[in-house]
Amino acid sequence: MLSLLACFVSSQFSRHEPGVTHVLVTGGAGYIGSHAALRLLKDSHRVTIVDNLSRGNLGAIKVLQEQFPEPGRLQFIYADLGDAKAVNKIFSENAFDAVMHFAAVAYVGESTLEPLRYYHNITSNTLVVLEAMAAHGVNTLIYSSTCATYGEPEKMPITEQTPQVPINPYGKAKKMAEDIILDFSKNSEMAVMILRYFNVIGSDPEGRLGEAPRPELREHGRISGACFDAASGVITGLKVKGTDYKTPDGTCVRDYIDVTDLVDAHVKALNKAEPGKVGIYNVGTGKGRSVKEFVEACKKATGVNIKVEYLARRPGDYAEVFSDPTKINHELNWTAEYTDLQESLRVAWRWQKAHRNGYGTAPLAMAS
Ligand SMILES: NC(=O)c1ccc[n+]([C@@H]2O[C@H](COP(=O)([O-])OP(=O)(O)OC[C@H]3O[C@@H](n4cnc5c(N)ncnc54)[C@H](O)[C@@H]3O)[C@@H](O)[C@H]2O)c1
Repeated sequence: MLSLLACFVSSQFSRHEPGVTHVLVTGGAGYIGSHAALRLLKDSHRVTIVDNLSRGNLGAIKVLQEQFPEPGRLQFIYADLGDAKAVNKIFSENAFDAVMHFAAVAYVGESTLEPLRYYHNITSNTLVVLEAMAAHGVNTLIYSSTCATYGEPEKMPITEQTPQVPINPYGKAKKMAEDIILDFSKNSEMAVMILRYFNVIGSDPEGRLGEAPRPELREHGRISGACFDAASGVITGLKVKGTDYKTPDGTCVRDYIDVTDLVDAHVKALNKAEPGKVGIYNVGTGKGRSVKEFVEACKKATGVNIKVEYLARRPGDYAEVFSDPTKINHELNWTAEYTDLQESLRVAWRWQKAHRNGYGTAPLAMAS
């Protein structure tokens, strides 16, 4: 009986079904991938997550499985995308209609210390995914790229025409992956959407998922993680590096995009993807926010008077980065809606407070 059931379940993933889009979400145990999987499942898509759990959390998969327990909705495959044999087996056993390729190591600082790991994990693994797609006739790719591919442009805001001159291995590896995808797409019928995200923040407004990076990666972490760590007392305070940039308050300016908006951009990209066509889009709010503004919003969102120490500039940081989202507004009819920084941080903090050990322990009662 059990084996019959297993056979039935696996067959749902292994055959195309009219009206059902089966999306392979690589890196779906991670922060953005898990939020994307949740949205795809909510939109009645079939989802296969492939992740090696090097950075993601099985707990996030468990949450998704609890939300969508019906057979044929969600399956999780533990695999490393660097293993071409394993990846090919996955493609031969499953009937995917599209791939959202999120899986990657994704810390700028770490990439300068371990460049080969970044080129392997990002560039080389994208090639593996692309080859498997080509070999198995999967013709829609939504690729997670980054504003780090632009480097330090002189002119703001950044449009998709801004020259890409990445300055660290993370940005370079992503740019190389983009180039491979673009070269391949020239002679193929693949529908390609490349989304270049700006700084991603926030979490599921209904509190099911959050951002839970490995504690050992804290030193490479992003500003929201540092703010929450300071608010919860894991670190003693925040160190803001650089107060003499040519920005309104002297601190660096970035474009913070809420993960709910980002995921919506993926869904719109999937819906508009056309065979033989490539779409490249910045995904940001179009509005720069300074580190000082961010810290003030974080203090209000957490209700904690976070201690802030202002220090000299950190080498390699650039003053201002923000997007021009006109193209995605017009072509995909997408606009960022969750643009209240304090509210995005409040939602994320609520999850953080209820999950002191990330996905590691059972969630405590949600506090608002
Ligand atoms: N978070 C941001 O601000 C941001 C900004 C721009 C672009 N991005 C891109 O978005 C994507 C997702 O980022 P995230 O913040 O969710 O990171 P994350 O670390 O939370 O998630 C990445 C996931 O990929 C998995 N993974 C890594 N290498 C793998 C491999 N070889 N095989 C299988 N799985 C593997 C990890 O285990 C993890 O679950 C990445 O491609 C990243 O470069 C993120």
